[in-house]
Amino acid sequence: MTERTCPLDVLILAAGQGTRMKSKLPKVLHPVAGRPMVAWAVKAAQELGARRIVVVTGHGAEKVEAALQQPGLVFARQEQQRGTGDAFLSGAGALEQPDADILVLYGDTPLLRPETLHDLLADHRERGSAMTVLTGELPDATGYGRIVRDASGNVERIVEQKDASDSEKKIGEFNSGVYVFDSQAPELARRIGNDNASGEYYLTDLLGLYRDSGKPVRAFKLADTDEVLGANDRAGLAELENIMRARINAGHLKNGVSIPAPDSVYIEDSVTIGRDVTIEPGVILRGQTRIADEVTVGAYSVVTDSVLETGVNVKPHSVLEGAQVGSGSDVGPFARLRPGTVLGEGVHIGNFVETKNARLDAGVKAGHLAYLGDVTIGQETNVGAGTIVANFDGVNKHQSTVGAGVFIGSNSTIIAPRSVGDAAFIAAGSAVHDDVPEGAMAVARGKQRNIEGWSRRYWGGLKEKVAVKLPWLAGWLEQNKGQ
Ligand code: UD1
Ligand code: CA
Repeated sequence: MTERTCPLDVLILAAGQGTRMKSKLPKVLHPVAGRPMVAWAVKAAQELGARRIVVVTGHGAEKVEAALQQPGLVFARQEQQRGTGDAFLSGAGALEQPDADILVLYGDTPLLRPETLHDLLADHRERGSAMTVLTGELPDATGYGRIVRDASGNVERIVEQKDASDSEKKIGEFNSGVYVFDSQAPELARRIGNDNASGEYYLTDLLGLYRDSGKPVRAFKLADTDEVLGANDRAGLAELENIMRARINAGHLKNGVSIPAPDSVYIEDSVTIGRDVTIEPGVILRGQTRIADEVTVGAYSVVTDSVLETGVNVKPHSVLEGAQVGSGSDVGPFARLRPGTVLGEGVHIGNFVETKNARLDAGVKAGHLAYLGDVTIGQETNVGAGTIVANFDGVNKHQSTVGAGVFIGSNSTIIAPRSVGDAAFIAAGSAVHDDVPEGAMAVARGKQRNIEGWSRRYWGGLKEKVAVKLPWLAGWLEQNKGQ
């Protein structure tokens, strides 16, 4: 049979409550791999090239609609949650024209792969079915609606757990809740009643209505039943997260990324990673993070919305957010790059260095214990251990500029707003409160004074205690008695 090529409309049912999540957040907004569950369904619908996507909202409708706001999405409200059949009808009115295949998805089954849905649609179209239900097979399908087949193996009915007879309860083939219908479904759905154990309108009743009208109904069986797992509570959510994580990591492993301990690594699906990259144990990569080739992200580092260019080495326990790191740079261990950090090529950031809204040009070195906020630093400048750019005066933040080739001695404070010229030299321990001209040496600290014999007088006055607590010093005092 030739494949029908009518447009595709997708209805996503997302009005249910999800009380067992015990949360203020509507169930379908709980994230899996950084994306709300319902957004996974929207993404799958988009990847299938849906002409129209309708999300049926009810519980927490405002929040769900606000979280999903994007062009091309349509929302339909289901005021009372009277069952999946009623939810379908609430959304069907928003379908564009009555000539499309209609795919129904749930807002709480984020693991469904677009490829599976593609195969389901192809099967539906190739066989000229009027309704195709996506099913799975489990040794024990308790809780699900079961697929009842007739003697010749044709799909006859779907029976809900509550309505099932003892022999029906033994059926292992279950209804995933995903269906493709022809464009007649909205019209047929008006005939669904609520004469069943729950008093709800069951979308599954459409199956019988299609059969009664003499139209072909078929089942398409899933290879991997994990794909239709939903989350009813936090434990279920964690399980989805585990499966999704394994799936995402498997994709990266296949693409040439080394992840020696994939179970411990959490990568959101929005992250892109190049080749010959190593992601060490315990790493978390989130948001719009882009990692180029030959990068290493060290153990227990967290990288969010950041760009790591070729060959960057992020050492363990570093936290990067909204940072750009130029090629060949190294960061950490224990570094913190905050939003607005832009590092040029070959920059060295060592332990306990924090940067914020800071541009460090090529070859800048800040090896130890520094705070660099609201500052630009020219190439090859050396930032000594303990340097602080004091950018905040208690009310306002100020911007500072440090030139190229500057040497900032250890434990200096640059009191913003300040400008330090190229090739300047700042003596260790300076509190720089004036601008420093190009090539100048700035010393901004008290002059050193040595008071001879001070120690002997001081400790000598505490002789008894020194004898008990500081025996070496007691000996020194004894030897230097006469002086
Ligand atoms: C449904 C199916 C069952 C199937 C199971 C798979 C029916 C009658 N039963 O059962 O055969 O095995 O899914 O998970 O359809 N929803 C609304 N409005 C409502 C009710 C539900 O939007 O009034 C949405 C929910 O948010 C959810 C989806 O529909 O996304 C399924 O609802 P749920 O109550 O979980 O259906 P089940 O009773 O589990
Ligand atoms: Ca359910």
